[in-house]
Amino acid sequence: MILRRPTMMWVSVALLGNTLGVSGHVAAWHKGMYCLNGTTPGVDDSNTNAAVQPLFQLQESDWWFHHVNECDMFPPTKGDFLELPANGEFTVELAVNRAFTTLSYNGANTATFGDGKDHPGLGVTLDGKADGDACISDPNIHTQNETMAAGTIFAISYVSDLTQVTKENLVVFTALYHTPWRRLATYKVPNLPACPEEGCICAWGWVPRGCGEPNMYMLGYRCRVVGDTGDAAVAPGKPPVWCEDDPSRCVKGAKQMVFWNQLEGNNVQVSGVDLAGEPKAPTYNMRMGFADGPQNDIFAERGSANPTYIAPAPTPTLSGSASSKTRGISIMAVVLSVLLVQIRL
Ligand SMILES: *[C@@H]1O[C@H](CO)[C@@H](O)[C@H](O)[C@H]1NC(C)=O
Ligand SMILES: *[C@@H]1O[C@H](CO)[C@@H](O)[C@H](O)[C@H]1NC(C)=O
Repeated sequence: MILRRPTMMWVSVALLGNTLGVSGHVAAWHKGMYCLNGTTPGVDDSNTNAAVQPLFQLQESDWWFHHVNECDMFPPTKGDFLELPANGEFTVELAVNRAFTTLSYNGANTATFGDGKDHPGLGVTLDGKADGDACISDPNIHTQNETMAAGTIFAISYVSDLTQVTKENLVVFTALYHTPWRRLATYKVPNLPACPEEGCICAWGWVPRGCGEPNMYMLGYRCRVVGDTGDAAVAPGKPPVWCEDDPSRCVKGAKQMVFWNQLEGNNVQVSGVDLAGEPKAPTYNMRMGFADGPQNDIFAERGSANPTYIAPAPTPTLSGSASSKTRGISIMAVVLSVLLVQIRL
């Protein structure tokens, strides 16, 4: 069983790659995410990739929190939160399918990268690159190498009901440069104040820098701030602006996520080329005014929130990495699948 499932999956991933060409497909996996189990009611799909589909040229009602395939209609299990330790850090898994995370098969298919492989030379050798193409297409992470990876973010809204989230109250609180790259990604948290009793709503975002369809990512989470929480509320966010060529134009303070290249509801428009001569892509880094790490400048005045202590959940938010034994089995499964795929093709 454990051998058969991955085999079928890798065949379909390979076929999907061929059909869709060079659009990236990554999500930040965590038990606090929306559509963790996929988008079929009552089904727990260990192989789901419902969350990873990019958003491009959609109506606002479809791109907002990935409604296009109803991701936003499948909240996490009650009590499962992405926990954000104030002034600490949290880890998620950037992967192309839940199968390659610790959230499926007890982590038996996990590896250094989010496609279940270790890719020792990725970004340096020709591994993952099609002939004559500088961009890595396998895994499909829209970049030439780690340095060029555009950066990803998390944003937070101090409401507990996803339908109450607005562009203005959903503020980017952390950026992680040079991602998506490896599977494990650790984001730093600023001095966030406590969430309402029922938690906050968070979102993960990514705008790739070239290497395929110029799309964007937005995915929902139930989240809550834990530990010693801050004494200042998060200020309303302003749309970020392109400022690569003039840092003085960068928007300071609380910023919204980047919403672009949709049919409607965009808050960012760019045209022309960047300093490297490539078509501008409003990526989550200093080109759009986002510093690396915690966004410490997003707060209203001190005293606008009540500091308190919120105890973290007793169970860790991320299960441990696979044991060496399950790892051995998974390597065997990979080898067998590759052989089987070759026989089939
Ligand atoms: C996902 O599936 C698991 C296992 O069936 C279940 O315990 C969990 O509640 C499901 N989560 C959601 C949000 O439906
Ligand atoms: C990464 O890729 C870019 C674009 O192809 C290239 O200019 C740069 O030299 C590469 N960096 C490394 C460290 O390989």
